[in-house]
Amino acid sequence: MSTHAPANATQRLDVEGAIGIVTVAYPPVNALSRSMRQAIIDGIAAAQAHPDVQAIVFICDGRTFLAGADITEFGKPPQAPSLYEAQDLIENSTKPVIAAIHGTSLGGGLEVALCCHYRVAVPSAKCGLPEVHLGLLPGAGGTQRLPRIVGAAKALDYITAGTHIPASECLASGLVDAVVPEGELRAGAVAFARQVLAEGRPLRKVRDSDDKVLPFRGKPELFADFRQANAKRFRGFLAPEYNIRCIEAAVNLPFDEGKAVERKLFLELVGGIQSQAQRYAFFAERAAAKIPDVPDDTPTVKVASVGIIGAGTMGGGIAMCFANAGIPVTIVETAPAALDKGLAVVRRNYENTAKKGKLTAEQVEKRMGLLTGSVDMNSLAGCDLVIEAVFENMAIKKEIFAKLDAICKPGAVLATNTSALDVNEIATAAASRPEAVVGMHFFSPANVMKLLEVVRGAKTSHTALATAMQIGKKIGKVAVVSGVCPGFIGNRMLRARGEQAQAMLMEGAMPWDIDRVLYDFGMPMGPFAMSDLAGLDIGWSKETSKSSTVREVLCEMDRRGQKTGAGYYDYDDKRNAKPSEVTRQIVRDFMAKAGQTTRPISDDEILERTVYAMVNEAAKILEEGIALRASDIDTVYINGYGWPVYRGGPMFYADTVGPATVVDKLQAYGERMGAGFSISPLLLKLAAEGRFFTR
Ligand code: 3HC
Repeated sequence: MSTHAPANATQRLDVEGAIGIVTVAYPPVNALSRSMRQAIIDGIAAAQAHPDVQAIVFICDGRTFLAGADITEFGKPPQAPSLYEAQDLIENSTKPVIAAIHGTSLGGGLEVALCCHYRVAVPSAKCGLPEVHLGLLPGAGGTQRLPRIVGAAKALDYITAGTHIPASECLASGLVDAVVPEGELRAGAVAFARQVLAEGRPLRKVRDSDDKVLPFRGKPELFADFRQANAKRFRGFLAPEYNIRCIEAAVNLPFDEGKAVERKLFLELVGGIQSQAQRYAFFAERAAAKIPDVPDDTPTVKVASVGIIGAGTMGGGIAMCFANAGIPVTIVETAPAALDKGLAVVRRNYENTAKKGKLTAEQVEKRMGLLTGSVDMNSLAGCDLVIEAVFENMAIKKEIFAKLDAICKPGAVLATNTSALDVNEIATAAASRPEAVVGMHFFSPANVMKLLEVVRGAKTSHTALATAMQIGKKIGKVAVVSGVCPGFIGNRMLRARGEQAQAMLMEGAMPWDIDRVLYDFGMPMGPFAMSDLAGLDIGWSKETSKSSTVREVLCEMDRRGQKTGAGYYDYDDKRNAKPSEVTRQIVRDFMAKAGQTTRPISDDEILERTVYAMVNEAAKILEEGIALRASDIDTVYINGYGWPVYRGGPMFYADTVGPATVVDKLQAYGERMGAGFSISPLLLKLAAEGRFFTR
């Protein structure tokens, strides 16, 4: 459980006339730990036994309703009382129980609420069954009860996406019975309870109402179509399929039989490696927010306005992140034409989102209204945070930081979005305040990708670092601290993978062989498909090109990736890739020139050399102190590089196969790994001692 959690949950019963109000508390999120389950049972039982009480309001103290099972208890022996015991007590109560919901009612929390006879919520409340994100399914009747309220089709959407459903939508679908004014939950719920008594409303049990599921009975096509439509989204994951099977059971079987299916499948998932990995990733993401020598109460700069230098793809995407969070942005470019072009791209992005129905025209205008363009850097004088997002050229960046040093108000945080350059050197340019300089490395497209590497320079102050981390969270990013090194955490590891991919190309593997293995492993695409997507000509110039690599030759032939219809692959008009004979020939020519002969390379070798090379580089990143912890590296890879979360990240994966196996394999590949390749001392040590990165 959370480091902030007290030892035990508490409960109290207040009686107001005929209404008993049971309040439970277990900060910070009222997770259903053993003591919380006991508290619920004690509170409800006390209300049931109280002679004056005729109806019961069940409400939580603190920032939220029950946020779900205590995730830390999974994988440990079960402790009585079970959640079922608490649920049965509520559902079978002869006095109506009304759940009063604020914050988030999630997972086991919603499953408790679904055993109450009625539910009321405040407008800001959200309900959901997000277990799928933990590689699980709702194991306390959620897959059987939710479809009985919202129908099978909606339940499929909600449960397989783990949607946090807003109160208004809950009201419309009958998931809550009433929405009461914000801040008046307790009074509103008590009034609702009085109404239930006055009207003699029944002790309604969700489990008994079949009318929302019956129309789907004997209609397997609903499920078949859903599986097919979502095959790409669910690829590699076990949990979505298991959730679907439970909802099928809810439709086709009596309640108790459906619940037995749910129980069986839940136990399979909770003991499996995918859920372990996804639960690990949940806590890894939260751990990343904590910096050991920067306490939680470190003063931060209140970021009320942001400046961005550069209206290119990165600058525009970063500006959108802040506008989306309601923070005004000033974007500076060198010339009006570049500025207009950048702002037009942002507008087009918003309008495309609006076309998909995800934004209203009004929201588009509101967000655009938060963006002010300028060609004068002096307009950044009042900004609390300035992010430089110009192209990767040290001299230009230093010039900009020297100007910012002169222009910006005292206390402003000065960030660079560099993905490659030395943040310490950039900081020297802000000569009077190098401590204000921090790296904020966004990933493209910046308005979509979750990862933010926050790069801590040698002189970065606690305040600048904490501000970057805090604002990162506010704009919906997962922020991870990295020290200064070429490529920081993510790209440095990617380079290690790229070296092996290129090496195997010269040993006889084709780009599509390597990409296929990594795709099948669960990555969204392999290194060659990724290069084609990004453009092979990034960092390439015709003038200096010497036909010395496959990539250079491809660029010289104007095969610069997807945008030119050809790169490592050939593309059709719909950008479908297919293996290219041209590339094959170029590779073969290079091999012939170097006197290399083709040998068969197994899929295992492709996987091991690419992935273990990354693990090895990650171990170096860890031992050098560039990453604070192994789980930060995993958080980077899951959120920034599409690493399949059900494999927990490169470090977790290395632990799954075992550091000793990783070392054995790397040693067995020997010279093939490359002349400059060396195994990390940390990796060797863990392997020798039978220890792990993440446990
Ligand atoms: N169990 C244990 N710890 C939990 C927890 C849970 N369910 N939910 C949150 N925590 C901890 C976090 O690790 C964090 O600890 P820390 O302070 O030591 O880092 C602390 O509570 C606060 O969490 P957040 O930082 O995430 O707080 P936010 O306010 O940003 O978010 C939240 C709150 C939306 C509730 C978010 O924490 C969340 O999504 N929690 C998980 C919800 C969930 O998945 N519920 C389903 C659980 S599985 C289940 O119920 C199975 C059932 O079907 C049988």
